[in-house]
Amino acid sequence: MTRVFSGVKPTGHLTLGNYLGAIRRWVDVDQRQSDALFCVVDLHALTVDHDPARVRRLTRQAATLLLAAGLDPELCTVFVQSHVDEHARLSYVMECVATDGEMRRMVQYKEKAARERERGGSVRLSLLTYPVLMAADILAYGTDEVPVGDDQTQHVELTRDLAVRFNQRYGHTFVVPRATRPGVAARVMNLQEPTSKMGKSDDSGPGIVYLLDEPDAVRKKVMRAVTDSAAEVVYDPQERPGVANLLEILAACGGGDPEDLSRGYQSYGALKKDTAEAVVELLRPVQERHKALCAEPAYVERVLRDGAEKARGMAKPMVDSAYRAIGLLPA
Ligand code: TRP
Repeated sequence: MTRVFSGVKPTGHLTLGNYLGAIRRWVDVDQRQSDALFCVVDLHALTVDHDPARVRRLTRQAATLLLAAGLDPELCTVFVQSHVDEHARLSYVMECVATDGEMRRMVQYKEKAARERERGGSVRLSLLTYPVLMAADILAYGTDEVPVGDDQTQHVELTRDLAVRFNQRYGHTFVVPRATRPGVAARVMNLQEPTSKMGKSDDSGPGIVYLLDEPDAVRKKVMRAVTDSAAEVVYDPQERPGVANLLEILAACGGGDPEDLSRGYQSYGALKKDTAEAVVELLRPVQERHKALCAEPAYVERVLRDGAEKARGMAKPMVDSAYRAIGLLPA
């Protein structure tokens, strides 16, 4: 069976973009059709300025939300990265395979480092080595497929390069993974800046719908979404990204095609109203299950403990064999 691995970074509250762009497909497709692992990658949250209590809280919340969204521990493995030492163990070995030039060419590193320096801050070394840790996350499990968004495909390419290089130098050890683009998933854009993705880390609240937003907050954000001054509702992502984004969200919530849906609307007001209600209804069951799970913290903890144990059982033999192949003396 195809081994699938993906991760979510607890650097902010999960958003509608995370859900429609990734998580929903993990629930509906990946966990059913493949041998899938989903990881809250908390080590990655330490690569930028962070508050320890917040990372801890967001890690628990992300794991709880993944379960609330429908990941089923009977079908897949849900766990927290730092609970499985193999990630850090393998990351060091992969640092001995990657080069510093390769790391400095990573677009996400360049952007984030530049932003940090502009603010007069310093850049953590772990921000530079982060893609190697991500490679370790993937390679430790013999992963075939990594469902990720566009912004992560360069990191998966790097992972492939490192796997191939390791295998050539030290003997066949790793499966060479490939990135899969979540086919039908929507690419949800920021409601206030419809040309940039609705990410969780860029904390500009009004354009981002969080999975745990109250219905009224959702309505307010959708009703205030930036559109344009044209009068008709047409689907044109290039010229009219704000309206296209609303149509795509509406389509993703209820099925259907954004272009077809556009014909049913005479005004932006009506489109926004229907989109807001569709999002509220989409989130309702997830929020209800989240609330129920929060009342059962021992259950969530047990799921994560069992998940980590299962993950460790898969990763340890792989990482041990990488240690042996690269020349480390078995303990
Ligand atoms: N870098 C990914 C992101 O920022 C998160 C991530 C870490 C990941 N390790 C991974 C995704 C392994 C897929 C596979 O979204």
